[in-house]
Parts: sequence; structure tokens; C-alpha cells
Amino acid sequence: MKELKISPFEKEITEGLMAPQKKLSSKYFYDEEGDRLFQEIMKLKEYYLPEAELEILKEKAAAIAEDLSCKSLDILELGAGDGSKSVFFLENLIRLGKEVKYVPLDISENILRINKQNMAERLPEMEIEPHTGDYFQTMKVMGDQLNTKLVMFMGSNIGNYKEAAAIEFLRLIYENLHFGDYFMMGVDLRKNPKTILAAYNDSKGVTKAFNLNLLKRINRELGADFDLDSFDHYPFYDPVSGTTFSYLVSLKNQTVHFESGTQIPFKKNELIHTEVSKKYSLKEIEGLGRQAGFSFVSHHLDARDYFSVSLFQKSSNSSNGH
Ligand code: TRP
Repeated sequence: MKELKISPFEKEITEGLMAPQKKLSSKYFYDEEGDRLFQEIMKLKEYYLPEAELEILKEKAAAIAEDLSCKSLDILELGAGDGSKSVFFLENLIRLGKEVKYVPLDISENILRINKQNMAERLPEMEIEPHTGDYFQTMKVMGDQLNTKLVMFMGSNIGNYKEAAAIEFLRLIYENLHFGDYFMMGVDLRKNPKTILAAYNDSKGVTKAFNLNLLKRINRELGADFDLDSFDHYPFYDPVSGTTFSYLVSLKNQTVHFESGTQIPFKKNELIHTEVSKKYSLKEIEGLGRQAGFSFVSHHLDARDYFSVSLFQKSSNSSNGH
């Protein structure tokens, strides 16, 4: 028998597809085509999240600045991307008299190069120190510096963690901060279920293409033979738990073959789970932060109450004794 080496990528993909409830990890969405499609999603009217968050960073920067009780700040942004929204927030903070050093963190070196260019264009005076690699490692290194830190985690990325994992993630941030440091996150709020569903089921079919691209990537990188026309995109929003679930649906009985020899059978209408996007109430956001050890400082919302930029502090007298 011919032995083929199975990559960690293939192992995770095939294990997910052999589970009783088939699943594919959302971390594989973002190949080159996936990045492009996600940029397109972010421009859709129905995908209200970026617009709402940007409105807050522009209109509420002064209110947020007032809640940050120090003049000098090291601002670490986790998963900073191209910085095209944060630049407005930083610009406002500087205009309001804060001394800012910006430390964008991302796994993509390429996107950080673009981030640095964007910042240099609008804020040539601002000190900037991009970091690739592990968030917590970088936070540890930065921990030796004396300035008060503000850690930003934007884009409602927290919503892609299940609740227990979200608290765990926030706790790791908490543990890597000093007393007096701040944590700020952008969170998509619970709202009319139809508004939320539409954001994950756009009329142009961009979100569908984005989901199906995961199969396209598997075909290309693992020599599989998914027939993209035989799968559909099915998003589902449960307003009770506040969770959007994204699925791919097999439109017929079919078997998918991998170059390695693995075969995966699909029944007609069988589902592959790809992503969760949890939506929070303001109370739930406060609960998340508190369970991680933080003291709640303030929420800042857009005019439609669609999105919150919520501020927390690691304070020595926080209510739960941390
Ligand atoms: N993870 C992001 C979110 O939850 C990106 C996203 C938008 C997405 N539409 C999607 C992820 C559809 C999976 C499926 O908003």
C-alpha cells in the first residue's frame, strides 16, 4: 500500500467531516480568495457590523477617551488587520491630547505591512510597533514596559468563540495585564432577528460564495473533488441563545474523494457546520468581562444600537476579588 503523509490541515479537515455532526473549522476560511470575499462581505449594506463599529470609533472617541484616566497609552490591537477602522479612533485620541504608541498584532505579516502604511499616511507622528505571532507572548514582552496599556479586540471577533471559550480567552488577556490597564472590545449586539439573519444571508450571494470557498480550498490544497453545485449555504439565527450558525448543506447523496484516499459520504440534506457568531446583550457583555476578572467601565453604542464598543479595566478592587 502506498503511504501518503497526511498534513495537520488534512487531518483536521477529514476528522471534522467524519464526526457524527460534520464540521469544518472557520479558521480555514481565509485563504487569498477567502480574504477577498470577506472584504466584499464587509462592504455589503446587509453586513452592518463594520459600519456600526466605525461609527462608534469616530463619534464616541471623545467619550471613550474620557473614560481612560491616563495621558500616555500603549495600545495593543489583537487581530489588527489593516487598521482602517482603528486609525480613526487613534487619530481622535491623539487629537484629544493622549500620547499613543500603537502595537498592532496579527498573524499575517502582509496585513501588518498594510496597517503600518495606513497609519503612516494619516498619523506620521505616531509611534508604531507591529508584531506578528502569538498574542499572549507579545503581551508578556510588552508587560515589562511601564505605560498603561489598552488592549483592543474589535470586529465582534469575540462572537466567533463559544461562550466558555470566550471567557477563557478574555481571562488570558486579563492575566497578561497589569492593574490599571484597560481592555476594549467591539461586540455585535442582539437585535431584530431578521436584521441579523440578513447579515449572514446576503442577497448577492457573497456570503454563500465565502462559505463554499472553504470546499474550493480543500479541493485545491488536498486534491479533493467537492462539487460546489451540490452544496448550498444555510445560515440560521437562534434569537433565544443569540447565536448565528452557518452551515453547508449537501444537496444529494454523494461521496467526496481526497487524493490521500480518504472518502467521505454525504447524505442528501446532511449539514456541515462552519461557524458560530454569538450576539450579546449589554448585560451579557458585562458578565463576560467580569467572569474574566475585569471591572466594567462603559459601553459605547452606535445610533441604531446595533453594536457596542465596551470598555473594561483590570482594577485592584474589582468586585470578584481578582
Ligand atoms: N466571523 C465573521 C462573523 O461572524 C465573519 C463572517 C461573516 C462569516 N459572514 C460569515 C463567517 C458567514 C462564516 C460564515 O461575522
